[in-house]
Amino acid sequence: MAEIFDFKKFINEEEIKKAAKYIKESGIVIFPTETVYGIGANGLDEEAVNKIFLAKGRAADNPLILHISNIKMLDELVNNINDIEQKLMEAFWPGPLTIILPKKDIVPYNTTAGLDTVAIRMPKNKVALKLIEEANLPIAAPSANVSGRPSGTNITDILDELKDKVDVIIDGGNTDIGLESTVVRVIDNIPTILRPGKITPEDIKAVVGCVKLDKNLYSEPNKNEHVLSPGMKHRHYAPKSNCVLICSDENKNIVNQINKMILDNTGKKIVVLSSTENVDSYNADVVLNLGSNLKYEEISKSIFTILRKVDNYKADLVLIEGVKKEGLGIAIMNRLIRACGYNVVEC
Ligand code: TXA
Ligand code: MG
Repeated sequence: MAEIFDFKKFINEEEIKKAAKYIKESGIVIFPTETVYGIGANGLDEEAVNKIFLAKGRAADNPLILHISNIKMLDELVNNINDIEQKLMEAFWPGPLTIILPKKDIVPYNTTAGLDTVAIRMPKNKVALKLIEEANLPIAAPSANVSGRPSGTNITDILDELKDKVDVIIDGGNTDIGLESTVVRVIDNIPTILRPGKITPEDIKAVVGCVKLDKNLYSEPNKNEHVLSPGMKHRHYAPKSNCVLICSDENKNIVNQINKMILDNTGKKIVVLSSTENVDSYNADVVLNLGSNLKYEEISKSIFTILRKVDNYKADLVLIEGVKKEGLGIAIMNRLIRACGYNVVEC
């Protein structure tokens, strides 16, 4: 069983040093970031990185993000930062943006899953920054969840899955954003979004003038297709129950379609994931509230916890309201489409 440090109110100096010592000595520590919790180890230590893959049951072809606490750490890890990458760092770090850069030899190939690039991010969370600072090492940290499951955003979900698999778990309360960072790679001077997040395409465009969305943000890559980010190929965020995502530009179409599907499936156990505005519109066995469809921050914060809860109801069918593919809605839809195994009804 992991040691648990409670930093919800303040950071205990002795305990954070202890957590950093584990990192320095090839241990693994779960810590909060502003996006989701990370399961972290020394990103330059092959043996420590292997422990992360083992604890998560993660495919060896899915590379990890290195977390840094200051810009000086970057020089040791990557080559050839161009003007656009520089501008992105200045605008969004510390914060929920991960940038893919050419790696230096010091970064082991198990961290990057054999790639010559490495993902780097400077998180905006006091506990995360202090842990990296104390360890004085780049911390490799994928989201804290068993592979394929929704990312961990609160201590209860994390204890459930990982308490016996790590040395320390730091409780920093519920994470602010609830969805993982935006992942970007600059290709031919155009920032290309490989995974959408809180930093939106508009945010990036405002800083560097242009942006591109990877073609697989809402669809499943073909089996033999070369993808720019291996994470796109893996099954993700998915409850075990059969989930369907219902989408439309018109809220009333979504409500009508879900009600029709409830009727068509009379006798089956149905769970609906609804926006706050529509919770009273459905005659289903269970209606769970995702948050307001006028405040996507609420939905992004709650979504992974709710997706985890879904399986407790042992539903025959889970019907999920889609949101608009705008702003933070782009990231929400990217996760929901994958959670539903690309099972989407447009109406
Ligand atoms: O918000 C976050 O990014 C969280 C917190 C803990 O920082 N971390 C996180 O890590 O979500 P993970 O491992 O769950 O997702 C990392 C994503 C994966 O989709 C992976 O394929 C991609 O980043 N990635 C990592 N290195 C890459 C590289 N060199 N080239 C392309 N994609 C890469
Ligand atoms: Mg993950």
